[in-house]
Amino acid sequence: MKMITCIAPINMAVIKYWGKRDEELILPINDSISASLSTDVMCAKTTIVTSALLKENKFWLNGQEQSFDSPRLTNCLRAIKKRADEKLPHLHWNISICSENNFPTAAGLASSAAGYACLVYALAQLYNIEGEISNIARQGSGSACRSIYGGWVRWHKGNSPVGEDSLAKQIVPADHWPEMRLLVLVVNDTKKKYSSAKGMAITTLTSSLIKYRANEIVPRRIEAMEQAILNKNFQSFAELTMKDSNSMHACCLDSFPPIAYMNEVSHSIIQLVHLYNDYKKELTVAYTVDAGPNTCIYLLESEVEDFLSIVNFVFPNNVDDNEYYRGLKLPSIRPLDESIVKDLNLSANKEGLLKYIIYTKVGEGPRVLDDSKEHLLQDDGLPK
Ligand code: DP6
Repeated sequence: MKMITCIAPINMAVIKYWGKRDEELILPINDSISASLSTDVMCAKTTIVTSALLKENKFWLNGQEQSFDSPRLTNCLRAIKKRADEKLPHLHWNISICSENNFPTAAGLASSAAGYACLVYALAQLYNIEGEISNIARQGSGSACRSIYGGWVRWHKGNSPVGEDSLAKQIVPADHWPEMRLLVLVVNDTKKKYSSAKGMAITTLTSSLIKYRANEIVPRRIEAMEQAILNKNFQSFAELTMKDSNSMHACCLDSFPPIAYMNEVSHSIIQLVHLYNDYKKELTVAYTVDAGPNTCIYLLESEVEDFLSIVNFVFPNNVDDNEYYRGLKLPSIRPLDESIVKDLNLSANKEGLLKYIIYTKVGEGPRVLDDSKEHLLQDDGLPK
């Protein structure tokens, strides 16, 4: 019997992956860049057990048993096993997989990226595989390849039709820009959206703007973003981040039928960011939005207190602080100066437009948890 437990980070893209050139192999039409976020705040955790006694393969996700036949899971498993030493006796045994996220999937955060990165990383440990595995994680979910590394990561789209060169590389580790923080503003919203897989398929098929984005805009922007990160140039980083988010959502709207992931609250947060940056006379906060209405704010630690006081004024809540503020310890939350309210002509919305706020930072990549108390499965392969 062998058992392994690992954790892996979620990531937040600043140059977005939107559109595939191969649906099955999950090959993108453009490069993308993201930061992996601290696993102390949000992560996926996966335990795998393999034993000669297991009668079948099994898979549990967030407490629910899943079919083992999903093509994405099967593709990852096949690709990993192909790299393993045939002589490993346990390579031919059945496996039990149990995976969970320590954050609500309903929050609409990229849980599949962390989940598949964690699964592939854990399988690689189980079968003693060394070297590149991001191109295998990619076959579970495209953005998962970026969660194989910590810090700032670029997914190179690659040119090969079979995808061996479509892989992620770390640009710099997490401690390169230690002041960088994120506020994830989780928006109250119940409307069902297209999954990112479905949404980007519609965009790739029907939008003419997406071709211009993939061929002209992103190739230039991605180099500028890499430089902004290397030079810790927040002005340039912020401008590129916001423009790229807008560009992805413009392509969504250019799809037929049009796809709208952002709602009124996302739009009003975006307007607030622009208003605040104008007031500060420089770019001090940057928004970015994925395939849902939640709006993620990249900012330096020194800006968190000021910006949060504005967010709290404009989006009041009646939720207990311990429930509302999640993640890292926040600086003191203070009321907004009257003068700023006047200068910016701010007004408060009705209560409850935001569900909660997660405060986090850039963090490390996947790792093994050695403590046996961390395992999600028992020796017999069933969940604890
Ligand atoms: C908007 O990686 O979830 O978050 O490859 O179909 O699994 P699949 O899609 P997924 O797409 C993520 C899209 C995004 C932007 C990004 O993370 O770059």
